[in-house]
Amino acid sequence: MLQLNQIHKIFNEGTPDEKIALDWTNLQLKEGDFVTVIGSNGAGKSTLMNVISGVLIPDAGSVEIAGKDVTFLPEHKRARLIGRVFQDPMAGTAPNMTIEENLAMAYSRNKSRTLRRGVTKKRKDYFKEVLQSLNLGLENRLSAKVGLLSGGERQALSLLMATFTEPSILLLDEHTAALDPARAELITNLTKEIVEKYNLTTLMVTHNMQQALDLGNRLIMMDKGQIILEVDEQEKANLTVDQLLNEFQRIRGAKMTNDRALLS
Ligand SMILES: Nc1ncnc2c1ncn2[C@@H]1O[C@H](COP(=O)(O)OP(=O)(O)OP(=O)(O)O)[C@@H](O)[C@H]1O
Ligand SMILES: [Mg+2]
Repeated sequence: MLQLNQIHKIFNEGTPDEKIALDWTNLQLKEGDFVTVIGSNGAGKSTLMNVISGVLIPDAGSVEIAGKDVTFLPEHKRARLIGRVFQDPMAGTAPNMTIEENLAMAYSRNKSRTLRRGVTKKRKDYFKEVLQSLNLGLENRLSAKVGLLSGGERQALSLLMATFTEPSILLLDEHTAALDPARAELITNLTKEIVEKYNLTTLMVTHNMQQALDLGNRLIMMDKGQIILEVDEQEKANLTVDQLLNEFQRIRGAKMTNDRALLS
């Protein structure tokens, strides 16, 4: 469903600020895979998502989504294939538009022109129905401006808008990080439900190790632009947070020793 082949991305190449954000990275996702992504700040997690969504074009390597090479396809032309929710609740929705207008915008992104004009009443009913599934009462507030919603409500709406058109890939970049624990749990549970309901192929970045172990069927750990650890479903089920952290230290330590050996 998703294939990243030898992706290389360098920022500010040839300057003192040069940064290798993705270092010949490979990744393959099968349809329905739900992969949690962990790694320290600056590891390259968001860059990976930006390359998949077309915000960034890699310096080398290729990106395939649903069997199609999209490496050089501009972001707007692959938007239909991708659903994305960001850390900032303000990022995924238009605050001055109503809930209904926001949903209509997300909906039309994935439909042909004739369908876009579709029966308004029918579409309204559909929007109400999907909003109802969030259990937040938003179905009764279709004409409320999205800017008036709480962070948690906006994030739930963003998640819905990113998924109800059933994209080929769902990208979640720390989408619960800005919420209080109760709201974060709500959004986490919603994520689980929605991903299962549509069997979405999903990449979810999180700094919460427990969440990374609890959700999904695979886990990857990134460091310095590389995927340094891949955990499959079975291994994941038996791992604890402590073991995961030890593993991180072990791999990093080993890498540092190698680097030192190379430098000496
Ligand atoms: N547009 C950019 N211009 C220059 N450098 C960038 C840009 N985007 C990312 N970087 C750098 O690339 C590296 C990887 O950044 P990235 O945002 O992918 O990290 P991350 O793993 O998402 O980190 P975090 O957990 O802090 O979100 C960092 O060193 C970052 O400073
Ligand atoms: Mg990031």
